[in-house]
Formats: sequence, C-alpha cells, structure tokens
Amino acid sequence: MKLSGKKAFITGATSGIGLAIAQRFFEEGATIAINGRNADKLSQINQELFSGKALEVVADIACVSDIEAAYALLSAESFKLDILVVNAGTYQLKPFCETTEQDFDAMFALNVKGAFFTMQYATPLLNDGASVIAISSVAAIHASWNQAPYNASKAALSSLTKSFACGLSDKKIRANTISPGVTDTGIWDKVDYREQVEQAAREGIPLGRKGAVNEVAGAALFLACDDSAFMTTSDIMMDGGVTYVSDPKEWGHKQ
Ligand SMILES: NC(=O)c1ccc[n+]([C@@H]2O[C@H](COP(=O)([O-])OP(=O)(O)OC[C@H]3O[C@@H](n4cnc5c(N)ncnc54)[C@H](OP(=O)(O)O)[C@@H]3O)[C@@H](O)[C@H]2O)c1
Repeated sequence: MKLSGKKAFITGATSGIGLAIAQRFFEEGATIAINGRNADKLSQINQELFSGKALEVVADIACVSDIEAAYALLSAESFKLDILVVNAGTYQLKPFCETTEQDFDAMFALNVKGAFFTMQYATPLLNDGASVIAISSVAAIHASWNQAPYNASKAALSSLTKSFACGLSDKKIRANTISPGVTDTGIWDKVDYREQVEQAAREGIPLGRKGAVNEVAGAALFLACDDSAFMTTSDIMMDGGVTYVSDPKEWGHKQ
C-alpha cells in the first residue's frame, strides 16, 4: 500500500472528486480526515465507506473561522498532515453580464479565499515532506463568457498553490495542482444545462467523454506519494485532450 502510515486531510470529501480521493487514499492505507458542511452526511459516509475510521471535520471552507476551527480539531487530535487536498469548490454557469455581486463573492469566498486559508492554516500541521494537492481546473487557462468568475477563481487557485510551494521547499513540502476537465460528478446537477454539458463533452473532448472521478483520484495518489517526489509547482491536466487540441477535425474519433 502506497500511503501506509500517512495522514491526509481532504476538503469537500462528501461527494465527487474529493470523496473518490478519500476512498483511494483510504484503500492505500492512509488515515484520513474528511470535510464537508453537513455533519449527518459526513457521519453516514464515514460509517458506510470508512467503517467509522475517518476523522469527521465539519466546516464551511468559505468561512475562515470554520477553517481555523477545523485545524484546531486536527491539532487536538494530533492529526499532523502528510497530505492536504484542497478540493472544496463551487461552480456556476452564468453569462458574464448576468453575474451578480453575490454570485461573484460566493465563488471567490470558497474557491479562492477558502483555498488560501486552507493552505495557510495547515502550515503548522504539515509534516516535513508533506504533499499539498489543490484541485484546480482546465478552466484556469480557458476564457469563457459563461463561467468567467469560476475560471478566474481557478486561475487564482493555481497561482496561490505555486506561491504556497515557494515558502515550504526547505521542509521538502511540495504543492501541486490537478486540473481536471469535465468530470462526472454531482457538480453538474446544479447547472440548468446538463444535457448541453453532456453533448459538449461527447463532441468537444478529443477522447469523446467526460473524465471519471477515479481518474482524478489516481493523479492525486501519484502526487501524494514519493513517485512524484521531484514535483512541486506542477500541474497535472486531466482533460481528455481538450486544452491543447482545439480543432475537432484533428481528433481521431471524428475521422
Ligand atoms: N466536476 C468537474 O467537472 C470538475 C472539473 C474541474 C475541477 N473541478 C473541481 O473539483 C472540486 C470538486 O468538485 P466536484 O465536481 O467533485 O463537486 P461536487 O461533487 O459538487 O462536490 C463538492 C464537494 O465540496 C463540498 N463543499 C461544497 N461547498 C463547501 C464548503 N463551502 N465548505 C466545505 N465543503 C464544501 C461538498 O460537500 P457538502 O455539500 O457536503 O458540504 C462536496 O463534498 C471543485 O473544486 C471543482 O471546482 C470539478
């Protein structure tokens, strides 16, 4: 098992990518702390998937006092971190000119401010040689009229992760991002255009499908363990090829 003896804290671990990462780390022998906003949901997942062995950390990551309390709990449990996964995030599909101040603030409160303070408050608890993994997105380098704050928030997250890595290299702590493309999770249930998203994934992604959460979890496992010991400030793109191959005529599955 690749993570025996390691301790990992995963934010946003009650569904989708965060839950898949928590499951993969647990299977690989890690002791895990899982976060979400809902205590009952966390407890149910812990009992059903982790035999009650995970540490449950109820916190709204958009709220800095909650983040502080989350780390106080980890500290009280002597839960020093070998792996931190900065995953909790929100998404909104809305045209640029219809986006409200509230929409914008909610996006940045979680995806940027929450991520920043998740890293900052983790610092005293990070063991030497720890791996910090932030779940960014290919949106970080894409322009989009319909999800401009989301894209900007992920660009900020990717930048923050590199900056965080700068200050910790003397302790051999590494910080990297994973940038998934469209991945099959409940995040898409929250948008009004689910069928358009499905079609765009089929027709707009060179590999002809959405990504799967276990694929992102595999990348997280790679970044979490010593196989990636020489990687910091790097990014793993898990996008089915959509970032670099922009012309559908170039795609083998269209010929
Ligand atoms: N799915 C994709 O296509 C895709 C692509 C690229 C990047 N990503 C990124 O991957 C990450 C996970 O997304 P997902 O697709 O797995 O979404 P998801 O299935 O909706 O899961 C989101 C998770 O975040 C938690 N969460 C939401 N708001 C929170 C808050 N304020 N505080 C603490 N936890 C919170 C949710 O838990 P509770 O609701 O229980 O609190 C849930 O566990 C996000 O950062 C997203 O931007 C997703």
